[in-house]
Amino acid sequence: MAITLEKEIERRRTFAIISHPDAGKTTLTEKFLLYGGAIQSAGAVKGKASDRHAVSDWMDLEKQRGISITSSVMQFEYDGYCINILDTPGHQDFSEDTYRTLMAADSAVMVIDAAKGIEPQTRKLFRVCAMRDIPIFTFINKMDREARDPFDLLDELEHEFGIGTYPVNWPIGCGVNFHGVYDREKREILAFADAHSGRSRIEGTRCDLAETEKMDSLIGEYRRRELCEQVELLDAASFEFDLEKVRHGKLSPVFFGSALNNFGVEPFLKSFLAMTTPPLARQTVEGEVDPLRDPFSAFVFKIQANMNKAHRDRIAFMRICSGRFDREEEYFHVQAGKSIRLSRPQQMMAKERAGIDTAYAGDIIGVFDPGIFSIGDTVCDSRHRVRFEGIPTFAPEHFAMIEQVDSMKRKQFAKGMSEIAEEGAIQIFFEPGAGMERVVVGVVGVLQFEVLEYRMENEYGVKMRRSAMPHEKIRYLDASPVPAGKLKLTSDTRWVQDVRGRDLLIFTGDWSINFALQNNEGLELREFEKR
Ligand code: G4P
Repeated sequence: MAITLEKEIERRRTFAIISHPDAGKTTLTEKFLLYGGAIQSAGAVKGKASDRHAVSDWMDLEKQRGISITSSVMQFEYDGYCINILDTPGHQDFSEDTYRTLMAADSAVMVIDAAKGIEPQTRKLFRVCAMRDIPIFTFINKMDREARDPFDLLDELEHEFGIGTYPVNWPIGCGVNFHGVYDREKREILAFADAHSGRSRIEGTRCDLAETEKMDSLIGEYRRRELCEQVELLDAASFEFDLEKVRHGKLSPVFFGSALNNFGVEPFLKSFLAMTTPPLARQTVEGEVDPLRDPFSAFVFKIQANMNKAHRDRIAFMRICSGRFDREEEYFHVQAGKSIRLSRPQQMMAKERAGIDTAYAGDIIGVFDPGIFSIGDTVCDSRHRVRFEGIPTFAPEHFAMIEQVDSMKRKQFAKGMSEIAEEGAIQIFFEPGAGMERVVVGVVGVLQFEVLEYRMENEYGVKMRRSAMPHEKIRYLDASPVPAGKLKLTSDTRWVQDVRGRDLLIFTGDWSINFALQNNEGLELREFEKR
């Protein structure tokens, strides 16, 4: 029994794929699934617009309504590993959920478009991964297109993100002149052939850089000379490979390839799986939980409301941190102080949701939630009670003033707003002195405003008026020399309070933040996710 448990946990790899929209995240994910045999053809899925999101987006209902707000989880097997991929939605669907999903991952794959380098969404997602120092693996995609200089790209990663990079392979040309990649460790050339999807694998040709003739016949003299120079430069100037640094998120192994052409994807997957770790110990208030030795424990990182409108059900997604989940067992819900049975546990297996009986540390399960869970809650074995440290609240980046239209519906308005805020889909703030008919709503992605409007009308029967606000930044008031209402601020800075009555300021930009700090000695502002 114990051996199976250990084996099962040790073969688990749970990671998130992060990227800016269009960098190739979906294409890469599909190639992974293809290698794992979880889907049969990648071309088919990518090719047809109608099928386009068939694999990764499982909230069909939400999609039809045009308000998909989910991020999906997929499990598949490859090479003896049991892989859980956490997908992070694109810019349309970007929400606080996206950030919270990253809390459930043990490592991240960052997909970068070789022609564009780091883009805004990559930056945001990277920052959240870096908060936990999780390992980050970089896949520089679209080398079959014109790309930026690879040294430039590495430089950008190092300077913007403050991490070291270690190119595992090195590209030979790009675009129409893309010849393949040179594997620095294996010392072989992986020649590029336009394989365009399918399961075809391209064999590497072992070839030392000193074997001039062989090299010339493979990539031509010009490319060979260029490659030798670049590799020499890399060997001399780049970071040394250090697995410990990789595992602590300080050094990112970098791979070049082309997801669309299925080039470099399998070597990447193999290296990545070998370098990442199985689920590691996680921090709780009582100390660390050990995935292998401790009994079942999990935390809720996402709540998906109203998947079926008729039933008003919610699904709570949990990341299992230790031990084994058993469908028949009774567990302890720490925040409620009650024993519970988790009903209708399910997992995503590539395409479909499937009911499950058991799951292990590293896995993500979804359970039916009759309205008892909140984001960050712990569920654990009742004989070994722990409490996970919770999930930080992420700073909203868009704000709007929301007012109810029909004053007869005050109660429903207040109920709807606070319930939706409790789920973590939006954050609400109050202007001191103003009543509950008017609140400031903050969100991470603008689509959340539409979701809010839709849900308020459909679930609570309340119409509301929304006025966009030009504010972008929010800070807690940690220390203030005078009461918040008396601070010297720019005219567009707003003082608000959260549901717990804590003071915050919202600003239109950095200039107003600096103004506040410079004109109020003793004022201390705190960013959100730093807790
Ligand atoms: P995303 O999930 O990160 O948003 O990106 P996605 O995989 O959907 O890819 C975005 C576009 O980039 C797609 O083209 C896709 O085919 C293309 N792409 C992905 N990887 C590569 C690559 O390695 N090389 C090249 N040349 N293109 C790549 P599209 O025209 O938007 O869609 P489609 O018509 O190809 O489906």
